[in-house]
Amino acid sequence: MEEKRTEQAILQTKSLTKYFRTPRGLLHAVDHVDLSIPANKTLGVVGESGCGKSTLGRTILKLIEPTEGEIIYKGANIEKYTPAQMREMRRKMQIIFQDPYASLNPRKTVKDLIADPLKVYQVPKAERNRIVSEIMATVGLAERFAQSYPHELDGGRRQRIGIARSLVLQPEFIVCDEPVSALDVSIQAQILNLLMDLQESHGLTYLFITHDLSVVRHISDEIMVMYLGVVVERAPSRELFSNPLHPYTKELIRAIPIPDLKPEHRLVHSIRGEVSDPIEPPARCRFAPRCNHCTEACMNRQPVLKDMGNEHYVACALYGD
Ligand SMILES: Nc1ncnc2c1ncn2[C@@H]1O[C@H](COP(=O)(O)OP(=O)(O)OP(=O)(O)O)[C@@H](O)[C@H]1O
Ligand SMILES: [Mg+2]
Repeated sequence: MEEKRTEQAILQTKSLTKYFRTPRGLLHAVDHVDLSIPANKTLGVVGESGCGKSTLGRTILKLIEPTEGEIIYKGANIEKYTPAQMREMRRKMQIIFQDPYASLNPRKTVKDLIADPLKVYQVPKAERNRIVSEIMATVGLAERFAQSYPHELDGGRRQRIGIARSLVLQPEFIVCDEPVSALDVSIQAQILNLLMDLQESHGLTYLFITHDLSVVRHISDEIMVMYLGVVVERAPSRELFSNPLHPYTKELIRAIPIPDLKPEHRLVHSIRGEVSDPIEPPARCRFAPRCNHCTEACMNRQPVLKDMGNEHYVACALYGD
């Protein structure tokens, strides 16, 4: 099974690891993560704040240097690429941020913001204008906003600028880092639909990061659940929702609010305990302090991912070691 996935993968990581040095010790933000994403597919990455989602996305793009491990893009190990080689790769590998407002220069017009990446790659002006108009139409930004500034637009339109900027260089792979988390629920659906349409029309592959499982449910082909730097479960989206195995994944699913219910009927459920910092983590299951099923077996080491069939993998002593 793994063999087949490897062949088709556009992006793969092997034991990808990022530790940050902090005054309190080494912080294990991303700890030996293996993943593979086939072309034109979406891998959703889910987990609470601080579990290492953004660090994983940024390390894959080499915006942050990995501590260890491999990043394989279309068969080439880009972990060893020089800055010059990475410059070419970055055309193919883009990122969309959570807060488009913070990542957009407030003094530039929509048109200039979208043209920026083209300028970096020295695309001639006439060509730039043509591409910008085309991309604005593609992401649903009316031509009349070309001379507007980001603060004059609502959150949904600002995120469309972010998406347009990531698209102008005709990438193949995009890290979407919480692209809808800052938006109202009604606008979230529009942006998710746009991303799904673009995937289809432009043949894009996504790593889609979110803390909100309900957001990745429809957009992801496969979902990976992270807890304090490690992957605790991975499965095709439908399988994960119908048959969650890890106690943490079950809690995440229980915590999804049911929108159809009246507020007074909603069962507000939050996961007990708090996430700690993964600084010099002890050799035990990282979820153990919050887990209702924790036994002696969980206190000796972090379990590795076990193949449960149906492309479903789980790292939990409940399912054997
Ligand atoms: N530059 C840095 N130096 C030190 N620690 C860092 C750095 N960047 C991130 N971290 C730490 O690494 C861990 C993972 O952070 P990261 O931002 O990847 O989490 P996240 O899952 O994206 O969280 P959120 O949902 O809040 O965006 C956190 O404990 C964070 O404090
Ligand atoms: Mg983040």
